[in-house]
Amino acid sequence: MNTVPKCWAVIPAAGVGERVGSSIPKQYLQIEGKTILEHAINPFIRNSRIEGITVALNPQDSHFSTLGIKSSSRKIHSVTGGVTRAHSVLSALDSFEAQLDKGDFVLVHDAARPFLTMNDLDRLIDVCLRHEVGGVIGARVTDTIKQVDNNHIVNTLDRENIWRAFTPQMFKFGALQFAVQKALKENIAITDEASALEYSGYKPRMVEGDSRNIKVTIAEDLSLAEIFLQKE
Ligand code: CTP
Ligand code: MG
Repeated sequence: MNTVPKCWAVIPAAGVGERVGSSIPKQYLQIEGKTILEHAINPFIRNSRIEGITVALNPQDSHFSTLGIKSSSRKIHSVTGGVTRAHSVLSALDSFEAQLDKGDFVLVHDAARPFLTMNDLDRLIDVCLRHEVGGVIGARVTDTIKQVDNNHIVNTLDRENIWRAFTPQMFKFGALQFAVQKALKENIAITDEASALEYSGYKPRMVEGDSRNIKVTIAEDLSLAEIFLQKE
């Protein structure tokens, strides 16, 4: 068994980007000369603590092989993803089976998040390596948050305790694989890895990061993305 846990990355990139509504999947749209997927993977290529990166691709993907990113780094591998994000993540985790220790860490990062900073990635790794199960990058909400019923406000939530959860989300391989399998088997809707871990009874760590680490989800996010990247 390893005494020092290793870190691996999973990039779910098998979605079609229906809500953005472009002619190609959103992760292959270009911002400042590079695809969103390449921006998303770059910090993991550059971070020497990441041993390997597995990208989950759509069975119909015709773009990934044209990027040249696979040949740019020996750390990059690809697998076929599944029908939901969770299935895609699980497919990548299953491909790790022979290689990883249960105590190794896996960082899952959306292909549609092009603004992860090297600094946030390093801090997440530092904090989670010392944690019992792992955690996620997120940011405090700055707006006042209302609970609404039938278009009428029924409550104002205490903003102090409300955070936005981003990716990467970094967890011990054994616990993560178990939790995602369990949630899928029991038909529990999970939109991120943390919710699977929470469902299995864990309390993941929240690590404060840069609030610009957005997921490109709708067409307007693309304009925001251009602005952020031009500023860099
Ligand atoms: N994803 C995946 N496998 C799926 C669905 C989504 O790997 N079956 C990935 C997407 O490629 C994306 C991430 O999960 O990097 C976050 O999902 P989301 O923002 O919902 O992307 P899409 O599913 O592509 O977008 P939409 O829901 O608008 O179709
Ligand atoms: Mg989706």
